[in-house]
Amino acid sequence: MNESSYVYVCAAFSAIGGLLFGYDIGVISGILTMSHFREKFPSGPAKEGSIVSSLLAGCFFGALVSGYFADKIGRKFSILGASMVFIVGSVLQATATTFIQLYFGRVVAGVSIGILSMIVPLYQSEISPKEIRGRLISFQQWSITIGFAISFWINYATEKFDSSAQWRIPLWIQNVPALILAFGMPFLPFSPRWLVHSDRDEEAITVLAKLRAGGDRTAVAVQKEYTEIKDNVRFEREFAAKNYSELVKRGPENIRRRVLLGIFIQIFQQLNGINAIMFYAPQIYNNAGIDLSTGINGFVNILATIPAILWVDRWGRRPTLISGSIIMGASMLVIGSILAINGTKYFDSSLGKNFIKLDNKASSLAVIIFIYIFVAGFAYSWGPTRWIYPAEIYPLRIRGKAMSITTAFNWLFNFVLGQIVPILLNSITWGIIMAISVHIFYPETKGNSLEEMDSIFSNIHPNNISISRQHYPPSPLNSESINIGQQRENFRDLESGIPEEEEEEIYLST
Ligand code: BGC
Repeated sequence: MNESSYVYVCAAFSAIGGLLFGYDIGVISGILTMSHFREKFPSGPAKEGSIVSSLLAGCFFGALVSGYFADKIGRKFSILGASMVFIVGSVLQATATTFIQLYFGRVVAGVSIGILSMIVPLYQSEISPKEIRGRLISFQQWSITIGFAISFWINYATEKFDSSAQWRIPLWIQNVPALILAFGMPFLPFSPRWLVHSDRDEEAITVLAKLRAGGDRTAVAVQKEYTEIKDNVRFEREFAAKNYSELVKRGPENIRRRVLLGIFIQIFQQLNGINAIMFYAPQIYNNAGIDLSTGINGFVNILATIPAILWVDRWGRRPTLISGSIIMGASMLVIGSILAINGTKYFDSSLGKNFIKLDNKASSLAVIIFIYIFVAGFAYSWGPTRWIYPAEIYPLRIRGKAMSITTAFNWLFNFVLGQIVPILLNSITWGIIMAISVHIFYPETKGNSLEEMDSIFSNIHPNNISISRQHYPPSPLNSESINIGQQRENFRDLESGIPEEEEEEIYLST
């Protein structure tokens, strides 16, 4: 296997974590409507809501604690551990005979999904070469969409059984990908960045060699990336604090701003209303009177994620996010208008919910088509980019902690919106706010290494840094006023005693 296919295999394999996420969330929304499940767990809307939200509560908690594990036991073992926890949660759910056991199983599975939802993109970002980092992290979103779709078709098939197998089988099945992930993870490499961070430099070079150069430890690309990571780690140890309080400090690296950008990208990803469609899609489609539209919705979601995999590293994060917001906002405008003009609101007392009925076939079809356009608009943009961006903007020493907080916000808003959905029309406003916010506040990150992000966020691109050696050394005490990219460059030269250009020549000649 050559180096590039190896890194693809590692990123794709770890993305099974995303599959568990999509599958488990998808499966429960189908199960809730199954006759044998309802017989076993008689519930009204409130209980149904709590079956969904117990998972989300677990996810929120899992995302919060994931930062600790990511740093302590590393990315690889955290993924392994989380997949084992998932199996426990999943068995509890599949064998549930009481509400308590069901809830408990949901929370346990949720904790695992929360951990995976943070650590998988983190791992993918740290093994990726910068040129295809967006693509490899997009695998996470792609596998979520595949998990959703598989769950739909499995539910669709087992719904026909006239026993509790109807809902227990879909829950048992999710153990298969979880077992594959648990057994396969030990064969994947550690994150080279985590290895350097843990002072396991030799192993880091070996991993980088496998990922970048077919095992050649002396390859220039390997040496260069290792040096860059090492310099960063040394620099961070020298100058930086290492706890959560750092996340709220501005500091020379603009950490607080980066944390806010990460939090808001996660919040926006939920506020655009995607889950009003994903979770309530069956009801929307039934209203519109066409069967299997939910299944097609799943395919649209999968297919429309592919452009991100292919081109997000070429388009850049900003244009992707801005165009996605505009497409989503515009589709919601059309859907909202059709519902307002041609819809009649009514209350279904057996389900205890409000519905909108569309009598006119043409408007039903138009609603469905615009829902697909909305989902496609999400799938290539906010779906994958909310994983990509937070996984690349933080310095190594706080990457785990910062990502865990930002991911937790996604789960929190997923939960909150679940309580107040559907509010489709609001999504139009959010589409506009999202597009404008990205335009004003979010710097482009494509094509830069993780180690170069500090320069971007302190406003000078690494290629443009001009070092004035007379001014060295910069004092960390007045570092608020000194560009961090410049500090790093100076630090690098001071450490090695060799200007960077000469360092490169030395590697080339070894
Ligand atoms: C989000 C989910 C959403 C899914 C849709 C994920 O990135 O976290 O909330 O349902 O995308 O494909």
